[in-house]
Amino acid sequence: MNAHDRTTDLISKLLHDHVPLSRTIHELRAALGDATATAPSREAHARIAAGVRAIRDDLIEHFAKEEEGLFPFLVSALPGMEREITALAAAHDGICGAAVRLAALADRDYAAFAKAFTQVRALFGRFEVAYAEHSKAEQAVLTRVAEGLSDEQRRLVAELARDL
Ligand SMILES: [Fe+2]
Ligand SMILES: [Fe+2]
Repeated sequence: MNAHDRTTDLISKLLHDHVPLSRTIHELRAALGDATATAPSREAHARIAAGVRAIRDDLIEHFAKEEEGLFPFLVSALPGMEREITALAAAHDGICGAAVRLAALADRDYAAFAKAFTQVRALFGRFEVAYAEHSKAEQAVLTRVAEGLSDEQRRLVAELARDL
């Protein structure tokens, strides 16, 4: 495996957890799109609430793992990248804030949820954009980071990535 392949392999491992997250977000978008803007069905509400809770919990877990294990290691390995890596962690807060707000709205009873549905869709739209931007930024930063790591550091990062 050459250096380019090793970098690509490591990045795909690091970003692997984004695949199920993106799938759940995609399913949620479909559920929100299926429902009419004024009156989602009770079934749609239940489906949306379950999807939002899953996204909230998965994101909180994924971001915590990045900030507890991967990011500190990368900063210590490549101090010159600290600003970019810190910015990735800072973006987690806004994304989680939107996910938590969505979950709180989805946990309302059916009537209250239906009343707030326009806001739910708008909030989901902002959440989706913020998540997509973060994913893209993370991919770009991690690609640059991986290029700067030694073989031994790559091996350690691959171990951390297994836990993400
Ligand atoms: Fe991530
Ligand atoms: Fe992240």
